[in-house]
Amino acid sequence: MCGIVGYNGELDSKEILLKGLEKLEYRGYDSAGIALHNAEGITVFKEKGRIADLRTAVNDDVIAHIGIGHTRWATHGVPNKLNAHPHKSASGRFTLVHNGVIENYHLLQKAYLKGIQMQSDTDTEVIVQLVELFANEGLTTVDAFRKTLSLLHGSYALALLDSEDENTIYVAKNKSPLLVGVGDGFNVVASDAMAMLQVTDQFIELRDKEVVLVHKDRVEISTLDGRQIERKPFKAELDMSDIEKGTYPHYMLKEMDEQPAVVRKIIQAYENENGDLAIDQDILDAISNADRLYIIAAGTSYHAGLLGKQYFEKLAGIPVEVHISSEFGYNMPLLSEKPLFIFITQSGETADSRQVLVKIKEQGYPALTITNVPGSTLSREADYTLLLHAGPEIAVASTKAYVAQLAVLAVAAYVKGKSEGKNIDFDLKTELAIAANGIQSMIDLKDELEQIAEDYLKIARNAFFIGRNADFYVSLEGALKLKEISYIQAEGFAGGELKHGTIALIEDGTPVFALVTQEQVALNIRGNVKEVVARGANACIISMEGLEEEGDRLIIPKVHPILTPLVSVIPLQLISYYAALHRRCDVDKPRNLAKSVTVE
Ligand code: F6R
Repeated sequence: MCGIVGYNGELDSKEILLKGLEKLEYRGYDSAGIALHNAEGITVFKEKGRIADLRTAVNDDVIAHIGIGHTRWATHGVPNKLNAHPHKSASGRFTLVHNGVIENYHLLQKAYLKGIQMQSDTDTEVIVQLVELFANEGLTTVDAFRKTLSLLHGSYALALLDSEDENTIYVAKNKSPLLVGVGDGFNVVASDAMAMLQVTDQFIELRDKEVVLVHKDRVEISTLDGRQIERKPFKAELDMSDIEKGTYPHYMLKEMDEQPAVVRKIIQAYENENGDLAIDQDILDAISNADRLYIIAAGTSYHAGLLGKQYFEKLAGIPVEVHISSEFGYNMPLLSEKPLFIFITQSGETADSRQVLVKIKEQGYPALTITNVPGSTLSREADYTLLLHAGPEIAVASTKAYVAQLAVLAVAAYVKGKSEGKNIDFDLKTELAIAANGIQSMIDLKDELEQIAEDYLKIARNAFFIGRNADFYVSLEGALKLKEISYIQAEGFAGGELKHGTIALIEDGTPVFALVTQEQVALNIRGNVKEVVARGANACIISMEGLEEEGDRLIIPKVHPILTPLVSVIPLQLISYYAALHRRCDVDKPRNLAKSVTVE
């Protein structure tokens, strides 16, 4: 949520910054800006809208070897040019970009900046004005920066330029992601390694509240109280091809197509030398030591968590609660005596989930993070990590990460169950391989799925997704996919629950997508379909081989009952994709959204 870049080196920074911002655009696309620092001073270009709009505003004649940039997802202040970053201090000496939210900005403004005329409605501007205030009081820039940081409450990733120092980018972070990339004769700053892979694959991790001076030939890291820190760079295990669209029109389509390969990769990644599925012994021990698992997640990852509960309860016999992270932290239920917290997060940066992690760590409870991003905040701060191995997910709508979350949760529950000698009469490795083929066969039906989107959703104002048992949880995900990228009002519902009120919304032609993959409730959900059809609904039944009936619109191949969600979600993802395309929506960057939600 908001992306930051910086470059300090020998080359003209403009193109590097703009290319970096294009790679970070998934983090927010309300406005964008860059600041270029050369002998003439600091020149800022900013625009409301996308990086493409910023590009047209940037003057090619300004050459600068040092610069910073920002792409914004608006929190404080509407998305307009005035509130776009970078922000300047009153005299223009300092220029700043910021990702995060400063919770006490109003108090700081009142306490320190009464006489200063603010130029924007952002919380960010307070930071840059404070740096100038303290510099005017006689502090060096780094000390003014330090003093400002010590006053901030909230989350931030910051990059600051001082027009009186053409050699340094001042950098700091707290709860928001930020990396420094190192190169030969240059150094860079980025919210995500992806942005600067164009120039380096060597990155230094930054810790909260460190003060970092990025020069072109060295990086100085110190604690807030001035203690110097040495830290070696790591190699970002990313490939440019992982983060390019290639010949695909959209990242979302590419990522959906990758799903069979992701499942196969997970099988390999969690195989031991005997070819059996395995996870680290210390994770198994942590699960054994717990009397209850608490799964904490948001959005799509929460939907994966609902299925994770089924896996752990059915395969390993461990009771599980699943909670929405933004609710849990501020409305904690009575906990069991020995809880283990499991955070499911594609990005590993979601602020809602992180605040829960911080709270439960303060109480001394253990935590496991299941994430796609090694080294992400939630991975670093938890005791244990299980990786999703899905490769970078760039489309805002999560697809392959969801399938990977289900696969990894199934592996963890299965391995745990097996290690306890539970009666598990199937081989998960084989079943996952069968599911990967099932996913492929759904992906191969793109033409049919596009036709379904046309037939059911072309003129729809709203839509329902219904199912029972595991199909209910997949229905929630199907509805979320449709609404977030096509803007069609959609609800996922437990099939039996509709008649308790919501059925009042069914009118002539209302699209209802019904999943029928769970044998023990197949007749019940078919009964629920009849109820809505009797009231005029246009029902699209997606059933599993063996449970199909005449008139079903799509049959998914037979897979093990606990793995049906991995396959049944695929048509829902693709139907949503085509519905969004038919409506000419921006599939990869839906309005009002951003990937990696780093504000609460
Ligand atoms: C929807 C989507 C979001 C995320 C949610 C949590 O397609 O992607 O609902 O699932 O913002 O994000 P992570 O998993 O990164 O914590």
